[in-house]
Amino acid sequence: MAADLAATAVAHANIALVKYWGKRDAELVLPWTGSLSMTLDVFSTTTTVDLSSPADEDLVTLDDVAVTGEPRRRVVAFLDLVRERAGRTGKAVVRSRNTVPTGAGLASSSSGFAALALAASTAYGLDLDATALSRLARRGSGSASRSVFGGFALWHAGHDDASSHAEPLPSTGFAPAMVIAMVDTGHKTVSSREAMRRTVETSPLYRPWVDSAAADLEEMRAAVSRGDLEAVGEIAERNALGMHATMLAARPAVRYLSPATVAVLDAVLELRRAGVAAYATMDAGPNVKILCAPADAERVAEAVAPHGTTVVAGIGPAARLVADR
Ligand code: PMV
Repeated sequence: MAADLAATAVAHANIALVKYWGKRDAELVLPWTGSLSMTLDVFSTTTTVDLSSPADEDLVTLDDVAVTGEPRRRVVAFLDLVRERAGRTGKAVVRSRNTVPTGAGLASSSSGFAALALAASTAYGLDLDATALSRLARRGSGSASRSVFGGFALWHAGHDDASSHAEPLPSTGFAPAMVIAMVDTGHKTVSSREAMRRTVETSPLYRPWVDSAAADLEEMRAAVSRGDLEAVGEIAERNALGMHATMLAARPAVRYLSPATVAVLDAVLELRRAGVAAYATMDAGPNVKILCAPADAERVAEAVAPHGTTVVAGIGPAARLVADR
């Protein structure tokens, strides 16, 4: 099949309600646990993969700035994977734009690699269905496997390349809000990749968390399907705190949570005491995402505003191709 010369894709970040934390196969990005996420309607990445001007090496820019070092190496390795599958060798110009702060635990790699997977596979002439696209995106960044889909997505841990992919949960109309409290958008000091590796290899709390994650996943799937915000929130919060406990017990410890994170967690507890159903989750960074009913989002945002900038998000769409730029 003839390939397009260029393709542009947009994908949105997702936030896991039951987390992915730890690989059992780093090369294939196979996780120890299944995970479940909500794709957001904010924080997107738009990526163009352009093959029209042949060059000696791939050129990668993010928000018009050349990407170098390890981030570039990851993109080039991903393009190599796509080229190998497509039986093609031509280098690419990759232009990305983020509406999400990069590398701050705000899921930029989930939108980034989902958009890259769709744009690159299209430009190089691979015709992938959503499952195959999710498997491909997974190789760039595990969480990206879920951003291929909108709404709620469940990433099956699987046991090999074919069985480890996300699928969308049936839509039930359940549409909570997520208030993002950005207490610090600086770049993280330990990458999630390194933090996961250290946790899996050294944390005595890792195995117990993996064991409890299976039950969290099943309970979460049921809670999402019946639209039970309280249950979804409680499971999400305990799963995230447990994940951070595994990191705190790693040697040396990985601590993403800052004093401002804890202040937001206190504010969330205070809201609950006042009768507002609000629940917190945190990823590989100090920022907090608070799940609540859309009608409560403004009140939640006001309560945490002293600690950082807030963005109110809802349920977002699947990755899609858009007209070339
Ligand atoms: O796929 P990565 O490297 O972006 O790892 C994501 C890890 C967490 O955000 C902490 C959890 C998750 O499931 O998204």
